[in-house]
Amino acid sequence: MWPPDTRPHTPLRRDLKYANRLAEIDARTVRLWGLGVAERRLPQHGEKMPLRQHPGTLEDPMEVIAFNGSPRKTWNTSTLLEKALEGAASQGAETKLVHLYDLDFKGCRSCFGCKTKGGPSYGRCAAKDGLTPILKEIESADALVLGSPIYLGMVSGEMKSFMERLIFPFLRYAKDDDPAPTLFPRKIHTGFIYTMGVTEEQMKKLDYRKDVALNERFLRRVFGSSESLLSFDTYQFDDYSKIDQDRFDPEKKATRRKEQFPLDCRKAFEMGSRLAEGN
Ligand SMILES: Cc1cc2nc3c(=O)[nH]c(=O)nc-3n(C[C@H](O)[C@H](O)[C@H](O)COP(=O)(O)O)c2cc1C
Repeated sequence: MWPPDTRPHTPLRRDLKYANRLAEIDARTVRLWGLGVAERRLPQHGEKMPLRQHPGTLEDPMEVIAFNGSPRKTWNTSTLLEKALEGAASQGAETKLVHLYDLDFKGCRSCFGCKTKGGPSYGRCAAKDGLTPILKEIESADALVLGSPIYLGMVSGEMKSFMERLIFPFLRYAKDDDPAPTLFPRKIHTGFIYTMGVTEEQMKKLDYRKDVALNERFLRRVFGSSESLLSFDTYQFDDYSKIDQDRFDPEKKATRRKEQFPLDCRKAFEMGSRLAEGN
């Protein structure tokens, strides 16, 4: 099986500490927030929240969560996400990889609970399903890495559904020049890793960059920061001879996997390391 599984899929997160952090948010308890002391919670309607200065210390390490939008758990997208998490861990971050295809969830149901003034779900996704606990974890994360294969010119369906649930509840229907367009209470780093079968030249012709730029804009608007990494011409099958195709040259694909993919892995590691730097 290629690529080789480079590390276990179990989260590195320390469960007890993590449970405590969620309880901390639930109880709306006081915690250190940069130089001052502030309550860590989601904002109420019309309320602006301060930016959190990430401590990222040994006592309070950064928490970085990656989301795999490919159904395959050991192939291109997940391998690059794991490298990104290794990069984050190299900066002392606690990391976790979530395989979206393992979760039972749907995209936004357009209920507008997240935008109902004074409502119980204001600033949060009101839908309750397999994604709900993950969305809760994100409230305390310090960086997010999204990863998706390109399917029919776009991110996978699972990733798109996830993005609707991740981004829309925090996105205020505010004017473009509104200084507080997001309800997410802190600025955090986000990265997006895309993998695709086409070459870089083909990608430019097909203009996948438009979607990449749009995703960056939404992520930046909500979380304050966004960067992207594109991995082209990926190796797609264990054995090309078994697949009905004459589009790809198996030898060229194998060379690409051997020579270029390790470089993409390095870029992913560096991205993860940057995201966990917290500045
Ligand atoms: C349903 C499907 C649709 C795809 N559509 C495209 C596409 O439009 N453009 C492209 O470059 N690659 C396309 N691919 C190839 C994948 O994007 C590519 O192999 C990717 O690296 C797979 O990621 P994974 O190895 O993590 O599963 C498609 C693959 C599948 C299964």
